[in-house]
Amino acid sequence: MAENDKKQAPGVLWAGRLAEKPEAEAFVFQASIAVDSRLARDDIRGSRAHAAMLGKQGVIPPETAVKLDAELERIAGELESGTLTVDTNAEDIHSFIEGILTERLGDAGRVVHAGRSRNDQVAVDFRLYIKRAVPELVAELTKTIDALLDAAEKHTGSLMPGYTHLQRAQPVTLGHHLVAWCAGLVRDRSRFTDALNRLDECPLGAGALAGSSLPLDREATAKALGFARPTLNSMDSVADRDFALELSSASAITMTHLSRFCEDVVLWASEEFKFIDLAESWSTGSSIMPQKKNPDFAELIRGKSARTTGNVVTLLTLLKGLPYAYDKDLQEDKEALFDSIDTVRNCLRMFRGMMESARFNTERMEAACVGGFLEATDAAEYLVRKGLPFRKAHEAAALIVRDCVTAGLTRIADRSLAELKTRSALFEADLYDAITPSACVAARKLPGGPAPEEVRRQIGVLRNTIAQYP
Ligand code: ARG
Repeated sequence: MAENDKKQAPGVLWAGRLAEKPEAEAFVFQASIAVDSRLARDDIRGSRAHAAMLGKQGVIPPETAVKLDAELERIAGELESGTLTVDTNAEDIHSFIEGILTERLGDAGRVVHAGRSRNDQVAVDFRLYIKRAVPELVAELTKTIDALLDAAEKHTGSLMPGYTHLQRAQPVTLGHHLVAWCAGLVRDRSRFTDALNRLDECPLGAGALAGSSLPLDREATAKALGFARPTLNSMDSVADRDFALELSSASAITMTHLSRFCEDVVLWASEEFKFIDLAESWSTGSSIMPQKKNPDFAELIRGKSARTTGNVVTLLTLLKGLPYAYDKDLQEDKEALFDSIDTVRNCLRMFRGMMESARFNTERMEAACVGGFLEATDAAEYLVRKGLPFRKAHEAAALIVRDCVTAGLTRIADRSLAELKTRSALFEADLYDAITPSACVAARKLPGGPAPEEVRRQIGVLRNTIAQYP
């Protein structure tokens, strides 16, 4: 670094020990204010609970605790209204808030950090932030599931091909397909709420790693901040980031689901499928090809799943081999998790907007159930019901498909009964009614199947699950 680039870093909390501060560029490198300023509210909440407890426990005079509380509340209000802005030259949000307190209250501001370290402070701030951000994300999930289930309800009778290997497989319904998506989203929702339950412990009072000799009341701060209990072990309190791993994983899984739904949507929106018409306001055009209407939103959601997978890898790699208890490496945790939470929230909102405004082309879907022999399995099962071993039934139906292909026919029903009987004498005229797309769907009323009444039951189960765990 050139000599004239050496600028002094701003005031820091740890100035006493070190005669020299890092140069400006190095200071900025180790600072986290750009990322953790979004914890301002949470940092203030944590400090208010800590200060009130210090006052109650006689660690600081009660009137000082009152002053601190009032000033912290004022600072929160000013940050909210914009009359105070976070100083981006500060080292981190904790230094900034404590700095303002001291600037305004003098010695009264200097007592707030008694019995506390930024290590337990950042752990509590991070958890408090998550406890308000993740329920918002869960609400977005719930709304998305609701919207998809509403659509599913309307389409329990809308026939469409089900695919395996992206080849037409068996007829299902659009409702059945949408409920398949929702089943995944409902599990995602429970992954987030599980993680929230597990992280509901307050690290405050753990100090740097070994607690404090001051008579802190950890139960009181945990309670004041709305945590179920204090954390068990002070070293674990500052070292643990399991909650970030769990939530980033839940985010990545949710985004992986959305990426698959979006891939379906991209295919459906193609001229080849034409199963869905995305609203013009949820599509984009091309700068060169005048005719284009592109499913960019679906593509971008699919693309953004990459960063959430990356964030899981970032966090696992960050934690792997990290010695107990706190290490500065942990400062990298927030950017990754914030990004995952933001990405999932935004993508859910965009996905919902795109889907709610889309029009399903149900005639095209139904037409696609004909041709491709989606009824072949039902023809085989017809023979099984008449007593033929399945492997023989499978072979008979397969030979009929071959006969059709050779004859240039696209449906088993295009063969005469006499022709069908050459492959199995068990075929009767009632076969024709049993292998229409709607009969194939109606006959699959086992739990989990596509029959309309069964899909309505599945919708009810998912709606109940959500209502039971709000
Ligand atoms: N900015 C830090 C973080 O995000 C706060 C804790 C710093 N503690 C320390 N001893 N340097 O983890």
